Amino acid sequence: MSARIEIDLDAFRHNVRTLAALAAPARTMLAVKADGYGHGMLPIARASLESGADSLAVLDVPAALAIRAAGIDAQVFAWLHGKETDFRAGIEAGVDLGVSSLTELRRIADAGVASVHLKIDTGLHRNGASPEDWPELVRATLDLQEAGRVRLAGLWSHLADASPDDDAAALAEFRAAIAVAAGIGVPMAGPDRPLLHLAASSAGIRMPAARFDLVRFGIAAYGVSPFDDVDARGLGMRAPMTVTAEIVRLHGDYAVLGIGSADGLPPTATPDAPSGQGAEVLLGDRRAGVFVIHVDETFVGATRHDQVGDVAVIYGPGDHGEPTAEDWARWAATIGDEILARASTRIPRVYLNE
Ligand SMILES: Cc1ncc(COP(=O)(O)O)c(C=O)c1O
Repeated sequence: MSARIEIDLDAFRHNVRTLAALAAPARTMLAVKADGYGHGMLPIARASLESGADSLAVLDVPAALAIRAAGIDAQVFAWLHGKETDFRAGIEAGVDLGVSSLTELRRIADAGVASVHLKIDTGLHRNGASPEDWPELVRATLDLQEAGRVRLAGLWSHLADASPDDDAAALAEFRAAIAVAAGIGVPMAGPDRPLLHLAASSAGIRMPAARFDLVRFGIAAYGVSPFDDVDARGLGMRAPMTVTAEIVRLHGDYAVLGIGSADGLPPTATPDAPSGQGAEVLLGDRRAGVFVIHVDETFVGATRHDQVGDVAVIYGPGDHGEPTAEDWARWAATIGDEILARASTRIPRVYLNE
């Protein structure tokens, strides 16, 4: 394997510390879904908890169980459930469960006494109860809690980050849903008050009113800005991930790198890309243009000094002239989350500063 990924855990810890300080007094939950956005869920989970996060957000119960199996006992929150979800295993492992519907609530209560976080849909339409279904979901939860069959641990939603106006409207909907819940009898003070959480990276950084009790930070901690008008470095973040690949052969005017779309490079980031600009890599002290990305190989422009075995930096923090994942996202007309999460697990990860 000629490709390699280095993950600088100190860079990641720096980001988490910076974000947690910004969000305080709200708590910080770190989103480690999509295998820690391609960085490796377990090392990232541990580094998060070492540097200011006190809880973890995974997508589903199996990922939460993997966290527990690794001996991590911090609060873990899982919110996407399927027909096969083993709620009993999740409850026995003390996993906090997001709940979007009455059906889900009943299945969970039948499996054991869970800590549940009720989700209101504030416009993203990914999941969550509609404002029409919300009162009934809240009422049913309080009834089950009264019967000792569930514990109401949170009220939450997720912002679409579509525009400041959309986010402001979603914040207003979330506040309205909290007021409805309070009207139905959910305590808003004292030890039984549920956690209120709405913001992820974007609102956690720029919308203090959306921080409530806890912010679920994701992409910013991985060194990618959630904003168009400032990059991660401008936010004081460092990219932990550096992807490199060797020249495996020279072919006419091209140097062929041993990395391709099966390793996670977006095959569209070539000179005829929709963005109008092909990708680049750092080869020695120059930027080399990417001509074509095949499944296992990438062709870049060569000079006569290039040799088989020379190492190209595909992307990294940008400190030495290499492109960043944010640059690749722009070239491929996608978002940085996708570039990072695509980094294939077949590339060996090397952790620095463990
Ligand atoms: C429910 C939930 N919370 C938090 C996050 C983190 O979001 P971001 O990566 O924008 O910080 C995500 C990611 O999509 C999410 O689905």
